[in-house]
Amino acid sequence: MTPIWRLTETELDEMGVAPPYWAFAWAGGQALARWLIDNPQEVAGKTVLDFATGSGLVGVAAMKAGAASVLCADIDPFCRAATALNAEANGVALAFTDADLLDGPPPGVDVICAGDVCYESPMTDRVMAWLALAQAAGSRVLIGDPGRTYLPKTGLTFLAEYQVPTTRELEDFAIKRTCVWSLS
Ligand SMILES: C[S@@+](CC[C@H](N)C(=O)[O-])C[C@H]1O[C@@H](n2cnc3c(N)ncnc32)[C@H](O)[C@@H]1O
Repeated sequence: MTPIWRLTETELDEMGVAPPYWAFAWAGGQALARWLIDNPQEVAGKTVLDFATGSGLVGVAAMKAGAASVLCADIDPFCRAATALNAEANGVALAFTDADLLDGPPPGVDVICAGDVCYESPMTDRVMAWLALAQAAGSRVLIGDPGRTYLPKTGLTFLAEYQVPTTRELEDFAIKRTCVWSLS
């Protein structure tokens, strides 16, 4: 474990708060961010939701790629501060909500990005059902994932693959083969 993760997790655990996912750029988010920068036409001039934003990484990339606006959503309230700091450091504007958007119908945005959301079974089931609703309602849904256990095996269209550097203190490999998919 990295020192920041261990210390923060211990401290937060004592308060009954979730682990600090916002402290890292997870492989799924890194790949999705890279893909948006490489394919700016996918978000340029469009409204974007960065679902499960963590640090705000994918939202920053979407704005850098020319998105009209980005709403970052994460149920961990610490993500608000992390996202605001990263937005400021990158000179972009990001809106943020800590509401659990999965409790209601998906917002009518042009594009929904979801970086590294398939790491727990119940969450993945809930997220994928909601993302399917979003796609059916007309949103383009983009997913970045390093082959997590619960990533669905069907219903995805392959868009790109990246070799993403990460840390052995958090992942099983120092370089994670990570793919970007769209819901199909
Ligand atoms: C592995 S992190 C990925 C963060 C970021 N997308 C990235 O790739 O760096 C997963 C994130 O999902 C968030 N999350 C879990 N359930 C959620 C929900 N119902 N709505 C929004 N975010 C959620 C967690 O708080 C966490 O920040």
